[in-house]
Amino acid sequence: MKGYTLVRTFHLFLFLLLLYACGKGGVPAVPEEKTAETTVMVEPGPLEGLKLYLGYCFVCHGQKGDGNGPYAEKLSAKPADFTDSTYFRTKADSELYDFISKGGIAHGKSMHMKPFGFQMTRDEIESSIAYIRVLNRHERISRAESSDFNGSEIYKNSCVMCHGEKGAGDGRVSKMLGLKVRPITGELLSQYSGAKLYNIIQDGIASDTTGSGKYMPAWGASLSEQEIINVISYISTFGE
Ligand code: HEC
Ligand code: HEC
Repeated sequence: MKGYTLVRTFHLFLFLLLLYACGKGGVPAVPEEKTAETTVMVEPGPLEGLKLYLGYCFVCHGQKGDGNGPYAEKLSAKPADFTDSTYFRTKADSELYDFISKGGIAHGKSMHMKPFGFQMTRDEIESSIAYIRVLNRHERISRAESSDFNGSEIYKNSCVMCHGEKGAGDGRVSKMLGLKVRPITGELLSQYSGAKLYNIIQDGIASDTTGSGKYMPAWGASLSEQEIINVISYISTFGE
């Protein structure tokens, strides 16, 4: 009942806004970033886990989770294959938590598996485990069409670890792995068409065989269309 009332009130609000805009003789402007949603905190769970996975784990464990990430070829140990359900069935969530937070060395395994407890919160590690379980079961999750975080929230959750606070390319993951990520500036982005930019974010740049583009993951499974548009308008302000 309460939800219903809220929705009605929201529609009434939109209607009034429309009336107001038409009265002014203009086309009603669509707000670029919904202020109503800015208070929504990131919900722990597999979708959030996928976003974190793409930001922190994909470079080694791969877009599909099979351990064939673009950085894996540089390593002396093969990153775990999360699609190996037989192996992961034997691992409790608490064991995975311990491994991810303390890293490989603490468990007599490869030093390339870093202790993520220094960079991720408990909720974040738990969400990544929820996503690892999705991979273990060979399932896929689809992006929430209705979810629309604003550009700055998306950037902080999913992009900052590589591109850095202001797009300089100095995020934690870039530093940790020595990735070369050229600075994002409004000027650089203006050289791309809107559609090209949208595709880079949706599909990643796996095709880049010479540059560092291959470290740019595909976000199409985790960000809604609106969210991709929101994050584009956010990063377009960099370097101004
Ligand atoms: C720099 C590369 C790298 C990154 C980044 C990375 N891993 Fe790993 N990971 C590895 C390697 C290599 C192994 C295999 C270690 C071994 O078997 O010695 C591994 C193994 C694992 C395992 C298997 C543990 C077991 O019981 O065998 C888990 C779980 C795991 N990683 C989770 C993660 C998560 C979650 C992230 C992101 C938050 C992540 N990894 C990021 C390289 C990486
Ligand atoms: C795991 C690291 C990583 C994450 C996370 C990441 N990117 Fe990237 N991204 C890269 C790399 C590396 C490049 C290629 C930069 C280069 O060529 O120097 C790139 C390129 C780009 C480009 C093209 C710019 C150019 O230099 O031509 C855009 C736009 C972009 N990323 C946006 C995003 C957005 C938006 C997010 C978050 C939703 C994001 N990236 C998350 C690593 C990452």
